[in-house]
Amino acid sequence: MSLLTVILASLINFIVTCPGEDASHSINVNWHTDVKGSYMELTDSRDTAFLSADKIYPKETLWSTDCCDSLFAIERYVCKVNMDNLKKGHSYIYRICAADTASGTYHFTTANGSRKWTFNAFTDFQTRFNPYTHNLIRLIDSIAGHSVLSVCSGDMIDYAAHQDEWEWLFGQDDIFSRFIYASSPGDHEYWGLPYPNGHIEQLKSPLTYNAIFNFPQNGTDCCKGSNYWFIYNRVLFLSLDCGDSNTPVSENSKMERDWIIRTAKELEGRYDYLIVLQHKSLMSSYTNDSGVHKYLTPLWVPAYVEAGVDLVLSGHDHMYSRTHEIDGVWYLDMGSSGRKTRVPDEGQYTDGLHDKIINLRELDQCVGAVVSVSRKCLDIKVYNRDGELVDQFKVKAKRRR
Ligand SMILES: [Fe+2]
Repeated sequence: MSLLTVILASLINFIVTCPGEDASHSINVNWHTDVKGSYMELTDSRDTAFLSADKIYPKETLWSTDCCDSLFAIERYVCKVNMDNLKKGHSYIYRICAADTASGTYHFTTANGSRKWTFNAFTDFQTRFNPYTHNLIRLIDSIAGHSVLSVCSGDMIDYAAHQDEWEWLFGQDDIFSRFIYASSPGDHEYWGLPYPNGHIEQLKSPLTYNAIFNFPQNGTDCCKGSNYWFIYNRVLFLSLDCGDSNTPVSENSKMERDWIIRTAKELEGRYDYLIVLQHKSLMSSYTNDSGVHKYLTPLWVPAYVEAGVDLVLSGHDHMYSRTHEIDGVWYLDMGSSGRKTRVPDEGQYTDGLHDKIINLRELDQCVGAVVSVSRKCLDIKVYNRDGELVDQFKVKAKRRR
């Protein structure tokens, strides 16, 4: 590859495949490039030379320091493609082309309606630049036998305003080119830049998050793109936006609560399981972010029972804790899929709600999960970064088929 090609290829950044609302025919792709007029080539996965590829032009938005209070320093085009007429259960490949060069090849498979499939789950890839996260993602995906989907409950980076942190996350092409990826935003996806006095600016909205990802725009008015739902193979995923590092109950929270109940009811019959991605864990630490138990838990727990939620995937506290079934809902806070860990609270050991607590800090560990979906249950197996199975539980199907 010539030097020129290397330089140009580096101008195509942050390519990520996101689910559309119904992932059996709808998939979204997002990327950034310095070059105006970039496009996507999409074809059947067997057409590895892209001889029969369709050329798809994105919605292209100029992102600059003059626009939207962006704290990214580098002007670029944010490119979004929303595909809505894909074949069900079909494997595709694509690449992004800009200025006479092309990205590597990306893969995705649309949902086929099967009731037996597997996805990967992660949380909190922090801290930035850590050496564990990418290897953990590779390991979990390998154990799963290469999943079609990976999900993460937020805090993927430390400072959303730092270009180099997103470059770190997406910098290893073999990972994000393999699967469809969905996340909920964490509070760090709201982090701007630190002031000289140490105070960290909180962005008014997850602007950078919404520029990096391309999730369905079917959530509440307050949080389009960061609050959304999608269905993959009869599993309904709902992503909540818990906001920045301040944790009061806001009008947005109440709006999201009503939305989740309404959405779960409206989509009844189309899904067997309902899984929530919610960054701030309702059943985890009593001390790390005390506002969660004070404000969020009383608001959300009854809503989850009413909505018929099966499993809540969370993070935020960097402590591994997993409850038993509470009024039909299981809560898994995996704590860390990176290097940031904390010692669990005494309260978590004594509250009578938890079946499993792992002191990730003491063990210098992080974890990810393989979730096997079947008619009978969700079988969740959690592995550490050495590939050891550290927790397993099953969430029984509760809907009639
Ligand atoms: Fe967090």
